Amino acid sequence: MPDGSLNSRGIEALVEPGRVHRRVYTDPEIFELEMERLFGRAWLFVGHATQVPKPGDFITTDLGRQPVLMTRHHDGSVRVVLNRCTHRGVKLVAERQGNRPRLVCLYHGWTFDPDGTLLRVPVDEGCAPGFRLCDFNLAKAPRIGVYRGFVFASLSPTGIAFDDWIAPMRENIDDIVDRAPGGEIALDAGMHRYIFRGNWKMQTENLVDSYHVPFSHASTVNRKGVQFSRREGDDEGAKVVDGQRTASQWKQRRSYAVGYGHGWTSNTELNESGRSSAVYDEYRHALISSVGAERAEKILTPRMHNSLLYPNASFMGLNMHIRVIKPLAVDLTEVNIYPVRLIGAPEAMNARNTRLLNVTHAAASFVQSDDLEAFGRAQTGLRSRQTEWVDISRGLGREEPVDAPESIATAAGTPPTVMRAMATDELVVRGQFRAWLDYMRVA
Ligand code: FES
Ligand SMILES: [Fe+2]
Repeated sequence: MPDGSLNSRGIEALVEPGRVHRRVYTDPEIFELEMERLFGRAWLFVGHATQVPKPGDFITTDLGRQPVLMTRHHDGSVRVVLNRCTHRGVKLVAERQGNRPRLVCLYHGWTFDPDGTLLRVPVDEGCAPGFRLCDFNLAKAPRIGVYRGFVFASLSPTGIAFDDWIAPMRENIDDIVDRAPGGEIALDAGMHRYIFRGNWKMQTENLVDSYHVPFSHASTVNRKGVQFSRREGDDEGAKVVDGQRTASQWKQRRSYAVGYGHGWTSNTELNESGRSSAVYDEYRHALISSVGAERAEKILTPRMHNSLLYPNASFMGLNMHIRVIKPLAVDLTEVNIYPVRLIGAPEAMNARNTRLLNVTHAAASFVQSDDLEAFGRAQTGLRSRQTEWVDISRGLGREEPVDAPESIATAAGTPPTVMRAMATDELVVRGQFRAWLDYMRVA
């Protein structure tokens, strides 16, 4: 039984192989430690380069507790700087996105370039002797990594190298981006935002939880137990329920844990050869023209459903989108969901994807509302002190090692072991808590 202290032994006592203590979801002190040790160190998704296409464009976000700006500088480069005026600490930009060739602080008018360079201080005759503009540039994120337009930052100058961290998930990013006939995607088609009264880990766990689907999402299946179509060109979706039981097709899904808390679930088999519609056929033709028939066929047979880049981003291959998770408090989390626009695809194909996402992932949609209800109820249930532990033991001991993706072999360092299990098991949740401990036990 954990004794309540949060030294490294106290932290370790909260996570056992098949269960975690309820405090990891409910204790504000643990949340503050997570912001410092986990979100203050890990590689975090900041944004996609297409969110800041022109010089002066910016988006704002938070990495853990720290406000940041992702900007496009005048020279065309993408920068990540701290959104904190170097004079008296005011948050420099309040808007979520916009364009400003110069960033002017509302308090005393200090003026910065998009790369954080301090250009001007009003009433400069009042500056102290020896005051130099160059000593007051905005702080930069200590480390930045970019892969296929996805911009990540770490607020720690040390830690796992970006190439090693991203290596196990590169193929999952490729799986989405390669679907664009133009070889690139854009996150410029709007977004869904929801805030739920639950701990952020409920969202990261749920993303790779295929166990809940036949129950939480029972209202999304027809009498045959088949979900509605979630991709352009499909007549119907996956078979989820068979009578009162989880369908055997659903049980064929697998989940993968690949180290660093990352993981993904494989897709349910859908009718790939029967997938057709005027819009889809036009898209398929565009992809074949771009990459050839053989490659197009491979790309169009998606192998993954949800992929989690631990701890704050996920990709979905079915209703294509990128999801970003922002913890606000121990029991409050913001999630932003961006439809993926495939560059070079017919606009109608992208519009259909966005419309399907409205049906499944808007805050009041069919699928997402079920999960949000579960998160809120879990946070309430976890107030109970009579049952101290949360069970995550499904499939414990049944995991099997598999060959690592090719991308891992090319990375430096010791490659993580890739483990596979039934997707209804809790392998990937346990993988997240292994990573959680790696960050959290070190002061
Ligand atoms: S706090 Fe920004 S200019 Fe004074
Ligand atoms: Fe769900």
